[in-house]
Amino acid sequence: MSKAIKMIATIAAILAITWFYVNPTDAGSWTKSELRILEELSIYSLPPLPPDVSNAVAQNIDAARFGHSLFFDKRMSANRLVSCATCHSPEKQFSDGLPKGRGIGLSDRNTRTIVGSAYSPWQYWDGRKDSQWSQALSPLEDPDEHGGNRMYYARFISEDPEYRRVYESLFGSLSHFNDKKRFPDAAGPIGNPAVFSAWENMTTKDRHMVNIVFANIGKVLAAYQRLIIPGESKFDYYVEAVLQNNNDKAETIFTKQEIRGLRLFINEAKCTDCHNGPLFTNNEFHNTGNLSFPGEMPDRGRINGVRKVLADPFNCLGPYSDDPTRNCPELTFVRKGAELIGAMRTPTLRNLEGTAPFGHKGQFQTLGQVLEQYNDSPLAMIGHNEVENPLGLSTSELESIEAFLNTLNSPLTTSPEWLNPPRLGISSIAVLQ
Ligand code: HEC
Ligand code: HEC
Repeated sequence: MSKAIKMIATIAAILAITWFYVNPTDAGSWTKSELRILEELSIYSLPPLPPDVSNAVAQNIDAARFGHSLFFDKRMSANRLVSCATCHSPEKQFSDGLPKGRGIGLSDRNTRTIVGSAYSPWQYWDGRKDSQWSQALSPLEDPDEHGGNRMYYARFISEDPEYRRVYESLFGSLSHFNDKKRFPDAAGPIGNPAVFSAWENMTTKDRHMVNIVFANIGKVLAAYQRLIIPGESKFDYYVEAVLQNNNDKAETIFTKQEIRGLRLFINEAKCTDCHNGPLFTNNEFHNTGNLSFPGEMPDRGRINGVRKVLADPFNCLGPYSDDPTRNCPELTFVRKGAELIGAMRTPTLRNLEGTAPFGHKGQFQTLGQVLEQYNDSPLAMIGHNEVENPLGLSTSELESIEAFLNTLNSPLTTSPEWLNPPRLGISSIAVLQ
C-alpha cells in the first residue's frame, strides 16, 4: 500500500472514531454526568407535591372544588367581569398570551403560568408572596385586576347560600356581616381612600374576622391550583428511552436538531445553571439583563419583593398561617443582598406553548427573541446581569435550542373536569349531598 493510501486510511479511521464519539445524532453518546442531569430534568424526578402546613385545607378535595368554583367566578370582582381564569386561561397553560395581564386595568407584569407553581416556595416574578394561598389574595384587591375589597369578598361568600354552606363545612361558622355599622359595604387596606378609611375605622377584632374569611378564600383557591401539574412531554419519553439504553427508540423520539439543542442547553449555553430540576427552574432570583419596554422604568424585582413578603400579614410567620410551629426557614433566612436588584424568579420552561410573549414584562414575542437576548447578553439597566458573557452561538445552534424547548410541552396531569368552569356549580361538592 502506498504511503498516501495508508495516510488516508488512518485519517478516515480517526474521523470515524471521532464521529462515533461526538456524533450528535447518537442518542447513546451521553456521558455519565450528562445522563445524571437528564435524569434530574425528567418529569419522573418530580416528587409528589409536599404538603403546605400553612394551609390546613391544601389537600382537601372539597376545598379544591370550592376553589375551582371561585377561580372561574366573575362575581369575585368589582365589575363582575373578571375571574382568575380571565388571565389564567386553561387553554393557554393558565396564562393569557398578552404582554401584561389585563383585568379591570393593566397589570404591572406578564402573567405567569400557574402550571406547577405550587412547587415553588415563592410566588410572582419578584417572590413577594411565600405561599399560593397568600398570593391568591393580591389579585382580588389589586385595582387593575379584580379591583374588589376584602369586606366585599367576605360578605359575598357569607351571602351566597351554596358558598356559605361549603365554607362552614370546611372552616366552621361564618358571620353574616349584616351589622353595617361594624361591617361597611366596602372596606380594605388597599384601594381608594374611602375604602381605606372605612377599614381603618373598623375595630381590630372585626378586621381580624374579615381577614380570616379572606385568607380562607386564598386557601381554597390554593387547594385547587395544587392540582394543576404538567405531565410527560416528548423530552421525558426521550430521557426514559436513553436511560433504558434503548437508543433505537430514543432516536425515533428526538430529531437530530432536538438532541443538539438539548446538548447545548445543558452544556455550552449553561441554561441549567438556573433552569434545572424537573420543572426547569431553581425557583431562585436572577438578573438576566432583560430590559423593560422603552419609556418604562426598569423593574427592581426581588429586592422589593423581599421587603414586601417580610411585611405581608398573610406570610408564613403571620397570624393566618395554619402551622402552629411557624416553622418558616425560607422567610427567616431569606437573602437580601444587592445581587437581587432587578432579579426575577426563574420561570419554568415546561409548557411554554401558548404562553408567549415571554419575560417579566412580556418583552419577547418569541422564544427566538429570548434566545437572542441570552446570546447578546446586554448590560442590565439596573443591577448586574448574571449572564453577562455573550454565548456567541450560531443561528442554527439557537434554532436547535428552540427546537429542544418545544419538546417540553405536555398535557397536564390534571383531569379535564378541573380545566373548565365547574359544570354543576359547587352543588356537586360531596359534603352538600
Ligand atoms: C388581570 C390579570 C390577572 C388576574 C385576574 C389574576 N392574575 Fe394571577 N397573575 C397575573 C400576573 C400579571 C401575574 C404575575 C405578576 C407578578 O409576578 O408581579 C400573576 C401571577 C400569579 C401567580 C404566581 C405564579 C408563579 O409561579 O409565580 C399565581 C399562583 C396566580 N397569579 C394566581 C391567581 C389567582 C388565584 C387569581 C384569582 C384570585 C389570579 N391569579 C388572578 C395576572 C392575573
Ligand atoms: C442566571 C440564571 C439563568 C440562566 C443561566 C438562564 N436563564 Fe432563562 N431565565 C432566567 C430568569 C430569571 C428568567 C426571567 C427573566 C426576566 O423576565 O427578567 C428567565 C427567562 C427565560 C425564558 C422566558 C420564559 C417565560 O416564561 O417568560 C426562557 C425561554 C428562558 N429563560 C430560557 C433559557 C435558556 C434557553 C437558557 C440558556 C441559553 C437560559 N434561559 C439561561 C434565569 C436564567
